[in-house]
Amino acid sequence: MKKSILLAAMLVGTAHAAPGPQVEKAIGEGAKLFSHESFGGKRTCDACHLNGGKGAGKLPNGQEIPSLENAGAIFPRYNQRAKKIFTLEDQVRSCIHGGLQGNPPPAGDEKVIDLLSYVTSLSEGKPVEMDGKPR
Ligand code: HEC
Repeated sequence: MKKSILLAAMLVGTAHAAPGPQVEKAIGEGAKLFSHESFGGKRTCDACHLNGGKGAGKLPNGQEIPSLENAGAIFPRYNQRAKKIFTLEDQVRSCIHGGLQGNPPPAGDEKVIDLLSYVTSLSEGKPVEMDGKPR
């Protein structure tokens, strides 16, 4: 009896908790924005990051780009072009500006938070590898 209680406590302690309802909702909203929101620009995220960012992506000129499947685990990361460290949010803002050719909303914007929640959810359970490489 005592042993099984201890075992149950250990399982609870090590079990990976799923995101709560608020974050789960943000992930869902972010998934929708990923394929519908252009931020006043001319395309959506999934124009380049195909299949919701899962699997290889493609630029409008046909060039392949990595998937977003570990993007949530490799930031902060040094951006060679900008010559500074990018957070995941910096990267998403850079894609809104350069990729969508839209206007990145102000800091704290709910749509950006939703997109970050969605992108991060793709890396759920993957080891953190700061300054790592996309897969
Ligand atoms: C025109 C194509 C294009 C669009 C549209 C686009 N991106 Fe990107 N994205 C890229 C490219 C290219 C990279 C590779 C890094 C770079 O060159 O900045 C990238 C990288 C990323 C990364 C980092 C991936 C990694 O592991 O390095 C994230 C996260 C990301 N994009 C999210 C988004 C989100 C969210 C949107 C929609 C708001 C979006 N992107 C729209 C082209 C695009």
